[in-house]
Amino acid sequence: SKGNHRHYMLKEIYEQPVVVAQTLRSYLRRMEDQVSLPVPDFDLGAIRRVTIVACGTSYYAGMVAKYWFEQFARVPVDIDVASEFRYRAPVMEDGGLMIVISQSGETADTLAALRHARSEGQKIAAVVNVPTSTMAREADLLLPTHAGPEIGVASTKAFTCQLAVLAAFAANLARAKGRLDGKAEKELVRHLAEAPAALNAALAYDESIEAMAHLVAGARDVLYLGRGPDYPLALEGALKLKEISYIHAEGYAAGEMKHGPIALIDDKVPVIVLAPSGPLFEKTVSNMQEVQARGGKVVLISDYDGVQAAGEGCIATITMPKVHPLIAPMVYAVPVQLLAYHVAVAKGTDVDQPRNLAKSVTVE
Ligand code: M6R
Repeated sequence: SKGNHRHYMLKEIYEQPVVVAQTLRSYLRRMEDQVSLPVPDFDLGAIRRVTIVACGTSYYAGMVAKYWFEQFARVPVDIDVASEFRYRAPVMEDGGLMIVISQSGETADTLAALRHARSEGQKIAAVVNVPTSTMAREADLLLPTHAGPEIGVASTKAFTCQLAVLAAFAANLARAKGRLDGKAEKELVRHLAEAPAALNAALAYDESIEAMAHLVAGARDVLYLGRGPDYPLALEGALKLKEISYIHAEGYAAGEMKHGPIALIDDKVPVIVLAPSGPLFEKTVSNMQEVQARGGKVVLISDYDGVQAAGEGCIATITMPKVHPLIAPMVYAVPVQLLAYHVAVAKGTDVDQPRNLAKSVTVE
């Protein structure tokens, strides 16, 4: 049931601290500060290449994970949306691992990609939320998310749980490949373990996000910008807004703005900038200032230090807790979900059952 919440989507957004903690519990051994994953019947250390395939929000979780697999395990990662992967004659050599990511475990395009990869001799890992699903059954290595049933068509808690699993998996692969020493693993686990509390702190900004939703609700187009692992979050923010509020939105890598989309900027296009403190902050802010210099109306989502440093001249700011860059994609999912939610409610759309969409897309 929806409990005290007006929509399943809101309930599921609020469940995130608990379900992410639940998911992390089965992938981290906190006493030893180690990741602990099910042991596959193939040699993880021999994996030479990773191919990630998924659709929609699950694809964006995969995009974030690409940064982690490359950074921690130093393994090359290809990523593609399932409907494209299947029809482009992908090159799959020995020693390849395919990771499919799917809330339902039944998405037809993703399943077809899995079967194709298997026929090409790839090992298959599946990050799925429904443990009895077809993908779960067909994988060599099942990595369940423990988000519980997700009812809202817009995926929320499944996404943050996918990120939790993928971060642990990246650390696990790094260890198997001898790229992660005990100290680095300990640090990684500690940062990951901070996610539930940080998600909770992010939820505390619900009312202030609701209060600024009108700034976006009247727009015809909205841009979302981010860099690095927060760039997929910009894509996710735009997808959430499109699917439930029917406002046209696009996510862009902040550094790509000057290569075209900046031509769109005027005072009618709200630009949501995702810029947590960290190594990419300054760069993101300079892209944001390029937007402002052209009259763009910026909503900055950052932490206290980021808002202090760059909040001036924005039409609104949303202050997130200050977190390690590893968990920023999880934490920053909350404000983009809440913003889409409140804009949709303000517009009076059917939040849980948006038009033309199904929860599980079982046709190719
Ligand atoms: O069940 P899956 O994770 O495979 O579903 C993939 C997409 O259909 C799904 O994420 C879709 O994009 C959501 N409606 C996004 O909110």
